[in-house]
Amino acid sequence: MTTLFEPFKLKDVVIRNRIAVPPMCQYMANEGFPTDWHGPHLTGLGRGGAGLVILEATAVSPEGRITPNCLGIWSDAHGEALRPLADAIRSTGAVPGIQLAHAGRKGSANRPWEGDHHIEADDPRGWETIGPSAISFNSAKLPKIPLAMTIADIARVRSDFVKGAVRARDAGFEWLELHFAHGYLGQSFFSSHSNQRTDAYGGSLENRSRFLLETLSAVRKVWPEHLPLAVRFGFVEYDGGDDVHFPEALDIAKQFQANGADFLNVSVGFSTPTAKVPWSPAYLAPVSEIVRRELNMPVGVAWGIGQPALANDILDRQQADLIMVGRPLLANPNWPFRAAQELGVDKPAWTLPAPYAFWLDRYDLTLTQAPR
Ligand SMILES: Cc1cc2nc3c(=O)[nH]c(=O)nc-3n(C[C@H](O)[C@H](O)[C@H](O)COP(=O)(O)O)c2cc1C
Repeated sequence: MTTLFEPFKLKDVVIRNRIAVPPMCQYMANEGFPTDWHGPHLTGLGRGGAGLVILEATAVSPEGRITPNCLGIWSDAHGEALRPLADAIRSTGAVPGIQLAHAGRKGSANRPWEGDHHIEADDPRGWETIGPSAISFNSAKLPKIPLAMTIADIARVRSDFVKGAVRARDAGFEWLELHFAHGYLGQSFFSSHSNQRTDAYGGSLENRSRFLLETLSAVRKVWPEHLPLAVRFGFVEYDGGDDVHFPEALDIAKQFQANGADFLNVSVGFSTPTAKVPWSPAYLAPVSEIVRRELNMPVGVAWGIGQPALANDILDRQQADLIMVGRPLLANPNWPFRAAQELGVDKPAWTLPAPYAFWLDRYDLTLTQAPR
């Protein structure tokens, strides 16, 4: 069997293949609630054959949204509204996952197609952002200085993550990912670019890790032991000398493991606007390989893995256990079907319902062939 189409079991969850949809914000929510957009979007991804579909960054507190149009899980009503989405994903044979997030100093922004820039707090659509320290991301688009979180703020957001995890569990999600990557709140506690605190939550690695580890272990207590708990973390910043932080990232990852994480979704820090990310196919695979080997735990990797043979090679080289396929699946939710064809997997039609599979099996996409 081709590795990309081998099942993957973690705790009591069996994923039908190694293709996962990483969280991808749709910026189509209304006051944190899903709209007509979300169900069909997620159903399409599940029907296309991905084994795991992780719902986009879902904010644990209103000020933890990236944009006013991001999903939220800060009330019981929000949690209930997500249940049909978990059911819709499950009905396709995929495992329903969710990412819990807090945007920190990168919150209160416009949608990418509206310019991606901060909305002022006095604008009715905007709000005051919070972060470990009163330091802005310092880019032209995200200049807003966040309020430095008090100890009470830290306790409140930690508890918001826990309440979000309870609601996600009750809504029927089977895979929970904590978003500690991409310069959002969790990552910004870890990064000394954004964290200049002098109390127990800043300074040494132990202190900069405290918010993440306290949150993780509090969530672990309410997230069922038989279901996977994942952490998405930015292991590298690609900001010149800053990659000396990679050993620190490995250290905190060991702590994630010790505090109940079952899986790591290896990603990028994005803590500074000056990072020089080496955009190229699968540029993070060598990083996830090190994380996987050093920690001896399962990992997923994303970024630029749009070629089925490349995805399969990453698995065969033991660089990752799941391949996170993002934009290629937005472009073509039936990507897994094409991947199965390309890799010569026998009888791949199980990944796609007959009304699509029958035709895709017989025609190439130029539609110039006679039916076989
Ligand atoms: C539209 C869009 C929204 C995204 N939203 C999130 C998100 O909510 N949480 C997250 O951790 N990453 C998010 N990402 C990053 C993706 O999960 C993924 O890592 C990235 O797209 C790289 O994979 P790809 O090259 O296959 O697209 C987003 C990416 C895109 C394109």
